[in-house]
Amino acid sequence: MKTYKRTLVTSALPYANGPVHIGHLAGVYVPADIYVRYLRMKGEPVLFVGGSDEHGVPVTIRARKEGITTQQVVDRYHKLISESFEQFGISFDVYSRTTSEIHHKFAADYFRRLYDNGKFIEQTTEQFYDPETGEFLTDRNIRGECPHCHSKGAYGDQCEKCGRTLSPDELIEPYNAINGNPLTKKETKHWYLPLDQYQQWLEQWILEEHKEWRPNVYGQCKSWLDGGLKPRAVTRDLDWGIPVPVEGAEGKVLYVWFDAPIGYISNTKELCEREPAKWGNWETWWKDQSTRLIHFIGKDNIVFHCIVFPSMLKADGTYILPDNVPANEFLNLEGDKISTSRNWAVWLNEYLQDFPGKQDVLRYALTANAPETKDNDFTWADFQARNNNELVAIYGNFVNRAMVLTQKYFAGKVPAQGAYTDYDKQIMQEIQGSVSEMLRLLDAFRFRDAQKEAMNIARAGNKYLADMEPWKLAKTDMERTAAVLNLSLQIVANLEIAFRPFLPFSSEKLRKMLNVQETGIDSLGKFDLLTDGHQLGEVALLFEKIEDDAIQAQLDRLARIKKENEEQEKAEELKNWHPAEIKAATSIDDFDKTDIRVATVLDCKNVKKSDRLLEFTLDDGMGGRTILSGIAQSYPDPSVLVGKQVLYIANFPPRKMMGKESQGMILSAVDADGRLVVTTVSAPVRNGAQVG
Ligand code: 2FM
Ligand code: ZN
Repeated sequence: MKTYKRTLVTSALPYANGPVHIGHLAGVYVPADIYVRYLRMKGEPVLFVGGSDEHGVPVTIRARKEGITTQQVVDRYHKLISESFEQFGISFDVYSRTTSEIHHKFAADYFRRLYDNGKFIEQTTEQFYDPETGEFLTDRNIRGECPHCHSKGAYGDQCEKCGRTLSPDELIEPYNAINGNPLTKKETKHWYLPLDQYQQWLEQWILEEHKEWRPNVYGQCKSWLDGGLKPRAVTRDLDWGIPVPVEGAEGKVLYVWFDAPIGYISNTKELCEREPAKWGNWETWWKDQSTRLIHFIGKDNIVFHCIVFPSMLKADGTYILPDNVPANEFLNLEGDKISTSRNWAVWLNEYLQDFPGKQDVLRYALTANAPETKDNDFTWADFQARNNNELVAIYGNFVNRAMVLTQKYFAGKVPAQGAYTDYDKQIMQEIQGSVSEMLRLLDAFRFRDAQKEAMNIARAGNKYLADMEPWKLAKTDMERTAAVLNLSLQIVANLEIAFRPFLPFSSEKLRKMLNVQETGIDSLGKFDLLTDGHQLGEVALLFEKIEDDAIQAQLDRLARIKKENEEQEKAEELKNWHPAEIKAATSIDDFDKTDIRVATVLDCKNVKKSDRLLEFTLDDGMGGRTILSGIAQSYPDPSVLVGKQVLYIANFPPRKMMGKESQGMILSAVDADGRLVVTTVSAPVRNGAQVG
């Protein structure tokens, strides 16, 4: 194992196109923060880099939607996002932005250096183009029908309905997402990073030298590498971003995924230049082999952090490479994918309005349910249960009992330690076991299980109090009561330290209650942290119960959003509807083979046990017939069809459906939203009349 002198921790730069939500927090920022706080407690040099990703198409889309400039969008959300992170205790050493001057210059210089050293290839390709606006369209600005699930509004990079990754060429009838214009293709020149040239090196570096990476990360890298890497464009035709610093590249900017990871470096540089005495030279953090680099990201960023960015670093040749990339899977919300554009999220700023002061509750619930190995679901019921059954009933309850009993019997002073019984020793051992397990898990980036071990310490404390019953002991044996409460308080002091990386606000509160200063991780697992006679602070509740009505209010909000989304999606489908293409030419002879007739509907009702079929009883002028038709969804009240003259195909062979025989097919038109409308005649005719 290599030994390191310092750790540089980065967390994905969130797009400044909206507030941050629980998915961001659970996937990236809470785990990164836990890790960084843990390293700081160990006294290791660590630098935690964050910042807003302010380029790219998502911010420009938001600007158009809100009718403001892109700069206004990024200013607004950079402020909101950085405030949210601060409020949730995400303890960045630097949180900057990719529109900063220092970043623009740094990223442009980086590109230019690679360009000058011949690290790019130039390629002219055909790209989607809107002839009316004269713009090339980026993947996100192209929409069309998904080739997989046939939802109409899929994006050029992904279908939000079925979640599949797409390329714009796969879309059926692509159009400009902003104005609905149909698109053509036009040639344009771009610079590409020839990833194929890095394939062999990446295979060795990842597949051979980093087998310890999480299986989801390793697996994704392997499948990219197995598929064979291709050159990737690092420039775009766009008017928002860092201009490509090359002659003849007017109107082109660096691809957001080229400049954003460079933001980790430029933000480090910004910090080091602002506080050189504290942080030293930025190059020590990025170029010295004794620095360990860790990227915290979500799974959608794996390819960029494990393949593209390392290739960019390798292309330069002077940088260190990531040592680990503990990427998380996704967190869903109440069973559905979190989506900024569909407002399907719990926004951090809104959470704090509804649950003021409860940052740690969310941190706890998200870590307890962290999507470390597979996608997980956030539900408000689980959130409430984690708070009420764990934070309140286990951790808070233990702390409260130990503190209140000490107030009651020893006027809030830590009572004398006394000799340990075998049972005391057993509890202490159990706690030491949890502590060492917790530290091992933290080192292995397994924060969910590590937090469980911290809670196990509180569980042991509760069990100890319940078994010792100091409130009974106090009637007969004050010396033993003192010893029991002393050990209980030592366990409380351990909890303050153990939970510190996870629940920093609660630990701060607990330090006040214990009237102690912060100590290092070495104190964990020790039982002489509070000296005899030490005066405790005031007792307060560490956590409060969350009532059902607060949870119901959140569920009601989500139900409202779901309904709005459905309505909006329907409206959008209607807006973007185009008639289907005319079928291949046919002939009158072919048409003549189909016998279309008129009949009056005598009765029309739902077929039992089928939510699709309607049963028509028709007067066909020839003795009557029955036809079954799969249009029930479009006619919630089928009786509206009774008395109407309808058109049907009379010469299809009879067919059995749901145990009934259908003698033909009713003709219906399909509307844009999929609704079926039965065809009729414009004036009464005799039943049995032929249509042709
Ligand atoms: O996926 C995202 O939200 C990107 N903005 C992450 C960028 S990470 C890094 F490269 F900066
Ligand atoms: Zn789809």
